[in-house]
Amino acid sequence: MEQPTRPTLFDFHGVSMTKHFTDNWDNVQNFKARPDDILIATYPKAGTTWVSYILELLHFGETCPERQSIPLNQRVPFLEFGKSSLPRGTDLADQLPTTPRLIKTHLPVQFIPKSFWEQNCRIVYVARNAKDNVVSYFHFGRMNNGHPEPGDWNTFLQKFNEGKVLFGSWYDHVNGWWEKKQTHSKLHYMFYEDLIEDSGREIDRLCSFLGLSPSAEEKEIVSTGVKFDNMKQNKMINHSNVQSMNQNVSPFMRKGKVGDWKNHFTVAQDEQFDKVCKQKMKNPALQFRTAV
Ligand code: PPS
Repeated sequence: MEQPTRPTLFDFHGVSMTKHFTDNWDNVQNFKARPDDILIATYPKAGTTWVSYILELLHFGETCPERQSIPLNQRVPFLEFGKSSLPRGTDLADQLPTTPRLIKTHLPVQFIPKSFWEQNCRIVYVARNAKDNVVSYFHFGRMNNGHPEPGDWNTFLQKFNEGKVLFGSWYDHVNGWWEKKQTHSKLHYMFYEDLIEDSGREIDRLCSFLGLSPSAEEKEIVSTGVKFDNMKQNKMINHSNVQSMNQNVSPFMRKGKVGDWKNHFTVAQDEQFDKVCKQKMKNPALQFRTAV
């Protein structure tokens, strides 16, 4: 069978992007956020689906169980997704019947539509350490023909460090959002590694940010539903409905670990990567863990 051609990257206002995420740009920029919208913002592969599902279950698990038979990517639209043959993220978000609306984005902070700031929306940002993030992104590029061809591991690693991957530089993304946290008080900045370490504690923190007080029983249902193995088995969550993804090449729910980078980086790659990190991560307040 003929393989569909992969999209190519181009420079879009200083960030590497593909047409699937820029073709609907005017509608993205003019998107009308509502004050109770919740935006889930991440660099790709940082834990978007995990946190989206936590928020979905916290808000609607009890009140709207029929939603569980709708794929998560329709319940939590991807704002900037604009491939012409598929429903656009802005349209899906406009059609959402819920309050709040949960909306996902991978945009760097400077590209967020201004209505989210004007409406003072709650935003949950999830960050993941660069080494595990790049490994996860590499395997995702292999399995998802909606993304540019990743090349071999060493090539992808270099492209990642140069910001020549879809949604641009990881370093700019995590730092840009961190700085925004200083001025936008309704931004909850959380880490994938903390979720791995103690998901119950992180769910409690999310609840206090969102003003939710679930019962112990509700919390237990959320904690169980969002466990890696349960999400992997859940056809509404594991992206098995996404045609561009070949899960035989690499499953969407791949490993879900901190430290898988050790199985990919050579000693030389690790030393080089640490050098780049040192140059680009200047803010001592923003620290990542590569092991838990
Ligand atoms: S995407 O495509 O950008 O929306 O991907 P995203 O959801 O951000 O990231 C996918 C990675 O998150 C892992 N994941 C989890 N890890 C632990 N526990 C749970 N419950 C969980 N859910 C998703 C997923 O396995 C991907 O990481 P890797 O390292 O590739 O396994």
